[in-house]
Amino acid sequence: MIKKERKLLVVDDNIDFIHFIRRALEREDYRISIALDGKTAIEKTSTENPELILLDMKLPDISGEEVLERVKEVNKDIPVIVITGYGGDQVAIDMMRKGAIDFLTKPVEPRILIKAIASALAIHDAQKKDKKNPYPSLEIFFPFLAHEIRNPLHAIAGAMAIIQKRCNLEDEFLTQSIKIIHEEVNHLNDFVQGCLNFVRPPDFIRFSEVNLRELISVTTSMMTHTLEPESNKIKIDIKADPDLPKVYINYEEIKQAFLNIVKNAFEAMPEGGELLIEASQTHESPKAVEIVFKDQGVGIKKEAMDLLFSPFFTNKPRGNGLGLALCRRIIVERHQGTIHVESEENKGTTVKVRLPIDRPQQDQPGEAS
Ligand SMILES: Nc1ncnc2c1ncn2[C@@H]1O[C@H](COP(=O)(O)OP(=O)(O)O)[C@@H](O)[C@H]1O
Ligand SMILES: [Mg+2]
Repeated sequence: MIKKERKLLVVDDNIDFIHFIRRALEREDYRISIALDGKTAIEKTSTENPELILLDMKLPDISGEEVLERVKEVNKDIPVIVITGYGGDQVAIDMMRKGAIDFLTKPVEPRILIKAIASALAIHDAQKKDKKNPYPSLEIFFPFLAHEIRNPLHAIAGAMAIIQKRCNLEDEFLTQSIKIIHEEVNHLNDFVQGCLNFVRPPDFIRFSEVNLRELISVTTSMMTHTLEPESNKIKIDIKADPDLPKVYINYEEIKQAFLNIVKNAFEAMPEGGELLIEASQTHESPKAVEIVFKDQGVGIKKEAMDLLFSPFFTNKPRGNGLGLALCRRIIVERHQGTIHVESEENKGTTVKVRLPIDRPQQDQPGEAS
């Protein structure tokens, strides 16, 4: 892998020290730009957009302190390492308070300088990644919440089973009420499970070579069992290329995604209809398998098309809106695949999924639309 060169701005009026820095960083992958005074440093921060600044406190024009404040106004996230020939703890504390990430005193050992730059960039990269990920706190928080919800639900279901056994089943209102409680408990359980699936971190260890024809059959028979009797009205037709190559995927996750797609198709055809599932290898590069789910259901309104993949978007009275959001997480973010939905109201919906045949690279998501 080619390492990316990173841009550093060195702010110092001492030419000898600048030479020293150049020599110390000779073997590292840094591109160095120089500012001999504070004004140039501020200018270069906005024109050159460096990734890190090494800042001397004593400059001919403006104080290092002011330069620190001004460059932070230009880019508040830029890591600044303050270097000074004088100082002490108090100066260091003041500079850190003003946003410096580290503080070094001259003479600086090259080894220490290199380490300070590397760790400042690493901290900065980690913070940036954290900001890009919209779910970090949810991933940690939700499993706790789920645990707190599921325990009482379990207790309610248990207590209801006892009541059901002992109560007078002739009483229609009572039987009806028990049924409602059961349904609501199941609904809440499913919702919590849906959220848990959505926030669960990726598990790259469970990737293996999978025969998709088999996985599709498992998915459809699972759905037919869970959605009886509705499923009696739905005909499922699976057409998979006989020489369909295996794909390298997380079996359980892709099964989850396909279950959600098939469930949506079933729910879109309350009066019955046909669900056609086709799987074939694409002829474009990168090599992929395309799975097309085509239903004859109610279809989707044009206005809703852009919202389909947003978590909690649903137009079903009892939907949770997590099905397609989960599909996107699994297929696009975790398998570098793609998922596209086409639909016509009252005619039907087609969901096209592509999964790369070869091992996915992390950090290279696919797309959803
Ligand atoms: N096959 C389909 N036919 C019609 N509408 C669909 C289909 N798949 C998804 N949708 C629409 O997308 C919305 C979001 O789907 P999803 O994320 O699975 O949540 P939910 O099924 O809980 O509503 C659904 O409420 C529905 O409006
Ligand atoms: Mg759904």
